[in-house]
Amino acid sequence: MLSRIFFRRAFSSSHKPKVECLFHEDTNTCCYIVSSNHTGHAAVIDSVLDYDSVNHRSSTNHVDKVISKIRSHHWTLSHILETHIHADHLTGAQVLKKAFPEAKSVIGANVVKVQETFAKALNLKNISLKGSEFDILLRDGDKFSVGDLEFKAISTPGHTPACMVYVVGDAVFTGDTIFMPDFGTARCDFPGGSAEELYNSIKKIFELPDTHRVFVGHDYGTESRKPAWETTVFSEKHHNKQMNIKTTKEEFVTWRKGRDAKLSLPKLIMQSLQVNLRNGKLPEPESNDVVYFKIPVNLL
Ligand SMILES: [Fe+2]
Repeated sequence: MLSRIFFRRAFSSSHKPKVECLFHEDTNTCCYIVSSNHTGHAAVIDSVLDYDSVNHRSSTNHVDKVISKIRSHHWTLSHILETHIHADHLTGAQVLKKAFPEAKSVIGANVVKVQETFAKALNLKNISLKGSEFDILLRDGDKFSVGDLEFKAISTPGHTPACMVYVVGDAVFTGDTIFMPDFGTARCDFPGGSAEELYNSIKKIFELPDTHRVFVGHDYGTESRKPAWETTVFSEKHHNKQMNIKTTKEEFVTWRKGRDAKLSLPKLIMQSLQVNLRNGKLPEPESNDVVYFKIPVNLL
């Protein structure tokens, strides 16, 4: 009997993991804690370091809430995941690493391409260009365990070359590939982006079981609803307003390129890149002990 109970608990934990979103209102980022009821292990996906771009001050308010939540449940944080190098918020990965030194930082192996592109564009010197700022670099199909939860990485380039979707049990974390059905899909106009590739990547999400829960990387709400972050593969396939199962590649690519041509840059793109390429480390202080960001003119 005991072994049957054990099996049932392990089965339910690994097939329907507990997912909690700690929404970051300033950047509309969905930061997730995924945990196993059975083993007490947890992973954080897309944490946020606060950055006030008017007063140019960073703070740890949001990531401190994540840390408090983990500690209050006595969870063991084993992995700190990034779905990609974000351009709209700074990652809180280093703050998490300091609080939980055993936790491993994880990102897609193509982060190397993103490092190369932006280290060159921004003339940055303190980037490894090998992804060695992160502990684990994943390739398409790679798996890793968070307690009894098995995560699988699916390479989903298009928004950026390093984008990864993470699947664990029935939960799918899409990062910036596809958003809520009434919001659409990610932009593809950053260097290394590709609307053609994003189409192919979203098709991979559509191949997952209809009932899988989809957790998106950002949401901005609409006139008729507040920000939300959970939907299903079925809803995305049938109701995503920019790309669903009826959308042809040509239709999507033409629409996406036209839309992207009208978008402004994210407010925090320069600060985000300079921190996120280094897995959350701020630039080194200069000889006067002050940290500076570079803001290139007429670059993008
Ligand atoms: Fe992004």
